[in-house]
Amino acid sequence: MRTAILEGIKQPLQIQEQPSPKPQNGEARIGIQAAAWNKRDYWITQGKYPGIQTPAVLGSDGAGIVLECPDAPQWVGKEVLLCPSLNWGNNPRFQSMQYSILGMPSVGTTAEEICVPIENLVEKPAHLSQIEAAAIPLAGLTAWRALVSKANVRSGERVLVTGIGGGTAVFALQFALAIGADVWVTSSSTAKIERAITVGAKGGALYTEDNWAKQLQRLNPRGFDVIIDSAGGDGFGDLVRILGMGGRLAFFGGTAGKWPQILPQYLFFKQVSILATTMGSPQEFQEMVQCIDKHHIKPVVDSTFSLETINNSMQRMLHPERFGKVTIDMRN
Ligand SMILES: NC(=O)c1ccc[n+]([C@@H]2O[C@H](COP(=O)([O-])OP(=O)(O)OC[C@H]3O[C@@H](n4cnc5c(N)ncnc54)[C@H](OP(=O)(O)O)[C@@H]3O)[C@@H](O)[C@H]2O)c1
Repeated sequence: MRTAILEGIKQPLQIQEQPSPKPQNGEARIGIQAAAWNKRDYWITQGKYPGIQTPAVLGSDGAGIVLECPDAPQWVGKEVLLCPSLNWGNNPRFQSMQYSILGMPSVGTTAEEICVPIENLVEKPAHLSQIEAAAIPLAGLTAWRALVSKANVRSGERVLVTGIGGGTAVFALQFALAIGADVWVTSSSTAKIERAITVGAKGGALYTEDNWAKQLQRLNPRGFDVIIDSAGGDGFGDLVRILGMGGRLAFFGGTAGKWPQILPQYLFFKQVSILATTMGSPQEFQEMVQCIDKHHIKPVVDSTFSLETINNSMQRMLHPERFGKVTIDMRN
């Protein structure tokens, strides 16, 4: 079977032949049909991620067919997508000390065959292609936990999703719409705000303009009930100001760096909650896929590359015009 190997930091991925893996107790062997990238994969190639071990097979997002499952043979032949959270543990509030993310140090989804625990399998919704299913796992799970498990968004609430060009942000928009919320977005690009409006957003503002927070305040004088942010940086202070009474701000990234100094008075008077979140459990992954199935949500796929052109796909993830997920068709 073919595998994309990262031999060392800042080296291109190399396609190599490797023997098929053997499932251990409680595992299934999956024939990966499609994979997708996240920023994590890029940070690993650049040596900017904790605990990097090379050689590595990257990829936390994957979909495929169960080839072998000695402990639960009823799975064999099923089309599945894979939960990227390994060893989450029993506590829904946070992950265990043994927690890891699929794809470094474990073999990730840019291999034609991998083994994963049976608890990480979920049947692929029938309305999705393998490519669409592969676009979901890490970004979908992170957005779901932030929006639903943490911020507990309700129908009719006003939601702001920052940096809508991000893979996770698009899922937060789609899930919030499915739940019946009204959603606004921020972006560096008018074209991306317009794309978000075609998906169902009510509008947005360019975070590159000085008065972006005031523009959003004018649209929502009572403030936002829920804000989903992965940028951090100076703009975080404005986000806190445009939260409404009882607002919840869930965050899981720091793309734009440190938060500014924030007056405690902005937080306690409005009784807002600032909620830190990371990834999610296999249970949350199942709930997220059920929502996708029920509402026939189609992930936004920016582009699809073959395994042979996998290095170009990593470049596409970094392109400023990208909107949605960059995927790899492992059958080509
Ligand atoms: N903790 C976790 O579990 C977890 C999981 C997934 C991701 N993350 C982190 O979350 C972040 C986003 O991940 P991703 O995969 O969605 O990355 P991504 O697809 O590369 O998205 C990054 C987006 O951030 C937006 N952005 C950049 N600077 C911004 C600013 N100053 N204000 C608002 N938005 C800004 C941009 O939006 P526009 O293109 O619209 O300008 C950009 O497209 C990364 O830092 C990633 O490491 C964490």
